[in-house]
Amino acid sequence: MDPGQVLLGIVLVLMLAAVSSAQDCTCASNKRTTCALDRSGICVCRLIGSAWVANCSTLTSKCLLMKTEMTPAKPRRVPSHGFLDNDGIYDPDCAASGAFKAKQCNGTDTCWCVNSAGVRRTDKGERTKLNCSELVRTNHIFIELKHKKRSDPFINSEVANALRYTIQNRYKLHPNYIRDIEYEYPFISINLKQNASQKLNSDVDIADVAYYFEKDVKRDSIFHSNNSFSLSVGGEPLDVEEMLIYYVDEKPPEFSMKQLTPGVIAVVVFVILALFIGITVLVITRRRRIGKYKKVEIKEMGEMRRGQNV
Ligand SMILES: *[C@@H]1O[C@H](CO)[C@@H](O)[C@H](O)[C@H]1NC(C)=O
Ligand SMILES: *[C@@H]1O[C@H](CO)[C@@H](O)[C@H](O)[C@H]1NC(C)=O
Ligand SMILES: *[C@@H]1O[C@H](CO)[C@@H](O)[C@H](O)[C@H]1NC(C)=O
Ligand SMILES: *[C@@H]1O[C@H](CO)[C@@H](O)[C@H](O)[C@H]1NC(C)=O
Ligand SMILES: *[C@@H]1O[C@H](CO)[C@@H](O)[C@H](O)[C@H]1NC(C)=O
Repeated sequence: MDPGQVLLGIVLVLMLAAVSSAQDCTCASNKRTTCALDRSGICVCRLIGSAWVANCSTLTSKCLLMKTEMTPAKPRRVPSHGFLDNDGIYDPDCAASGAFKAKQCNGTDTCWCVNSAGVRRTDKGERTKLNCSELVRTNHIFIELKHKKRSDPFINSEVANALRYTIQNRYKLHPNYIRDIEYEYPFISINLKQNASQKLNSDVDIADVAYYFEKDVKRDSIFHSNNSFSLSVGGEPLDVEEMLIYYVDEKPPEFSMKQLTPGVIAVVVFVILALFIGITVLVITRRRRIGKYKKVEIKEMGEMRRGQNV
């Protein structure tokens, strides 16, 4: 063999190696990253718009995800009736751990305190006057799904099993934190509970699970595109048409304008994130299964609102 052919062979092998390793260098748990091999051939994925290195074998924290959303890789597709609620999505300040900092500001002197899910839990105030002494933990997340009408309800246990499976396997939540899943046609309620003393460092946080889930339902998955989202129950698709997420904190929120009714349970639901596909205005009144939440008004797709502290 002449030296030219040998050289060509080597070059081809090297090129193939480069191509195949470049293909492998992607982030399974977060597509909002740019990945490259470092000098030692290790695939390093950084979040778009920041220098954060993602751990691709677990969920990325909600705070860091929200940051990547403020710097979209390509122009966002905003639905015609949609708008971005400043309260729902903002450019958050994240701690070194990836968690939300207790105090968040909107670039001006206006600040507010958030819980560990990044949801506002106080009035807005001036930077200097506002005191967010601690990050209050969201230890209970209640997700309510409504599926499309069908001739027969699904089988109760199959619904619970399908969702349990997805939450454990897709979002990697330890089963201990899935308190219960209930089904009452066409509503599915999922209770996730995780307090600070239970949560190990290696455990994913229920707030991150809820965010990944929300994005999946909105068809804006955070996972690598080879990992598409589908829910099915007993072999039939479960089409979610409505999703509400309630955040319950360890401590009641501190909104000055809203009085807590005496005798009410200390944990209070105060934020509702609504996703209505094809519905723009809707008023939900108290639902018997969720005794402690009173009246909630939802207006636009994806809008975030504070409910009543009841
Ligand atoms: C999808 O891509 C990720 C990241 O490259 C990889 O780890 C995973 O195995 C792939 N999954 C499938 C089903 O191809
Ligand atoms: C910050 O919030 C205040 C009060 O809600 C608002 O008036 C102001 O326009 C916001 N600024 C930015 C940059 O979003
Ligand atoms: C803020 O919190 C600190 C520590 O809890 C307290 O000493 C201080 O007085 C508080 N400031 C205001 C304005 O509430
Ligand atoms: C955390 O949850 C566990 C299990 O539900 C419970 O036993 C424990 O008392 C809780 N801890 C706190 C501080 O609420
Ligand atoms: C990435 O996350 C996994 C799962 O929580 C953990 O075991 C691993 O140590 C993490 N790796 C790094 C580099 O932090």
